[in-house]
Amino acid sequence: MVRTHRCGELRSLHVGGQVRLVGWVHARRDHGGLFFLDLRDRSGLVQLVVDGQEHPELVHLSALHCESVLEISGKVRLRPEQTNNEKLETGEVEVAVEEAIVHNVADALPFSLEDEQAKRVNEEIKLTYRYLDLRRENCYRRLLRRHRVAATIRDYLNQKDFLEIELPTLFKTTPEGAREFLVPCRINPGQFYALAQSPQQYKQMLMVAGIERYYSLARCFRDEDLRADRQPEFTQVDLEMSFIEREDIYELIEGLLARVWNDVLGKKLATPFPRMSFREAMNRYGSDKPDTRSTMELADVSEIFRNSTFGVFAAAVAGGGVVKIFNGRGLANITQGELRGLEEGARSVGAKGLAYLKVENGQWKSPILKFFSEEERQELDRNISPKEGDILFFSAGPWEKSCKILGRVRLDCLELLRSRGTLQLPWDQFNLLWVVDFPLLTYDEEQGRHVATHHPFTAPIPGDIPLLEKDPMAVRGQHYDIVMNGVELGGGSIRIHSPELQRKIFENLLKISPEITESRFGYMLRAFRYGAPPHGGIALGLDRLVAMLCGTTSIRDVIAFPKTQKGMDLMVQSPSSATEQQLKELAISLRKNS
Ligand code: AMO
Ligand code: AMP
Repeated sequence: MVRTHRCGELRSLHVGGQVRLVGWVHARRDHGGLFFLDLRDRSGLVQLVVDGQEHPELVHLSALHCESVLEISGKVRLRPEQTNNEKLETGEVEVAVEEAIVHNVADALPFSLEDEQAKRVNEEIKLTYRYLDLRRENCYRRLLRRHRVAATIRDYLNQKDFLEIELPTLFKTTPEGAREFLVPCRINPGQFYALAQSPQQYKQMLMVAGIERYYSLARCFRDEDLRADRQPEFTQVDLEMSFIEREDIYELIEGLLARVWNDVLGKKLATPFPRMSFREAMNRYGSDKPDTRSTMELADVSEIFRNSTFGVFAAAVAGGGVVKIFNGRGLANITQGELRGLEEGARSVGAKGLAYLKVENGQWKSPILKFFSEEERQELDRNISPKEGDILFFSAGPWEKSCKILGRVRLDCLELLRSRGTLQLPWDQFNLLWVVDFPLLTYDEEQGRHVATHHPFTAPIPGDIPLLEKDPMAVRGQHYDIVMNGVELGGGSIRIHSPELQRKIFENLLKISPEITESRFGYMLRAFRYGAPPHGGIALGLDRLVAMLCGTTSIRDVIAFPKTQKGMDLMVQSPSSATEQQLKELAISLRKNS
């Protein structure tokens, strides 16, 4: 090894020792004849002292740009009294440099790597020079934490008799699920692989293959619209087990997360986690991934308005829908701009507008108050008891849609309260829960057909199977999501292992034609005829898990080389165009203007 020690490990016990160190010049200070350099490696930094009089051949070091790479040898000594740096672990000592080799001279940097200053640098610049940004201690600590989380997960699952098995990334296009990345195949012109959205079908085949317990940290690819918690390429802690029930998965994952919290954060997680039905989650929080850190919840006021003269509300209830309400406590003084923001949020999830009622100076104020009868006002007051400074938001219509709209309004209100400093949502209050009893199917208005709520391999709850023909929307799936602080950390299900039931789901309920069923899923239906064990599993979003453990809301912060909102890797400048020759080999011609 070139070095004898790491920069960050030197202490007073090393005083008098001869050391050889390597690293990056973190900072430099010139004090006339003496100058100081901080040398940094992964372990931390230590102060170097160069005496220009004693070592005139080293004076050139005083002009080195920060981040140049340096190797030195010298003697460790105590710093003169009063010059100890208590903020630094190596703050008691310094190294008097005797020899130095400059391995690489750094140019002036495009941005400062000081955490406080780097915070203000435009993210595109930081991503373009990601290798510089990653040198910052904050960034390094997140990657370190990610490594520890992954190592703990592997350790836990290995102990539980799971086999880590790598599964293909080049998969096949399937008609269900997220939009895929297609990969042309040169040796089969005109044919495509699809990058795996998840190893779902392969892991099920491992169960048919008798593996019983599988896991992998799987790369997954989805060509989705990106957000803070979505990347086109991300990692799942993916696992599958045979001969189990839902309870076994709950216990396994509760144990796994408790281990991670213990080993990585040194914190106890209370287990078992609470469980909440999809219905309850929607009713109370307007979301299937409720942030339960705030107790501000939705309420149902349908009964008050069942016979209302206010046509919109009465019609909603008459049509089998609901009137829901959310009290944005203390937000009556919301600005016009903020109100418009809330309304836009509501519209983005299907609202036509956003009715509200404020209590100001003891008065109810609302554009729709004139439509309420005296009795309705009294009932509303009795049931909801809005207080001075409150603002009630209303949503009337089909149940799920109304809940969702107010769920969005709720989150936006919580954010407003948080930004005003009147509400705390501590990142390290970890409200984990299982959301269960999802409907097996969701009706997709655009496609005019049912789609699987989770994926088409999810088994129905056995008692609900008789309803499959008569009332498919009432059938619940054996699907579970694990949710923390408003983020879906993971999801999974017990799977179908009967070829007849699986075919029925594809063809009768999801209306996939027999030809497509055969071409896309034929192998699976066949596999299920050769001894398929009952099985189930789950996948946790590793990026989301680590981000939450780091107290950040963007998974980009915990991915070494993330893509931007537009799916670009700014460092390598990807995606990029292909040459004519490449396209020709792939038998692809590009359309003009597209
Ligand atoms: P699902 O589609 O719910 O289930 O994905 C599981 C978890 O993966 C994470 N995740 C993402 N993370 C970052 N960027 C994305 N674009 C992204 N999409 C999903 C989420 C999510 O909860 N095969 C099934 C699992 C199973 O049934 O076993 C699956 O993929 O945290
Ligand atoms: P899908 O496109 O349905 O495969 O989505 C991938 C996963 O991300 C699903 O399990 C969704 O429930 C989940 N998801 C969708 N939108 C969000 C969101 N805003 N925040 C967190 N998770 C989401």
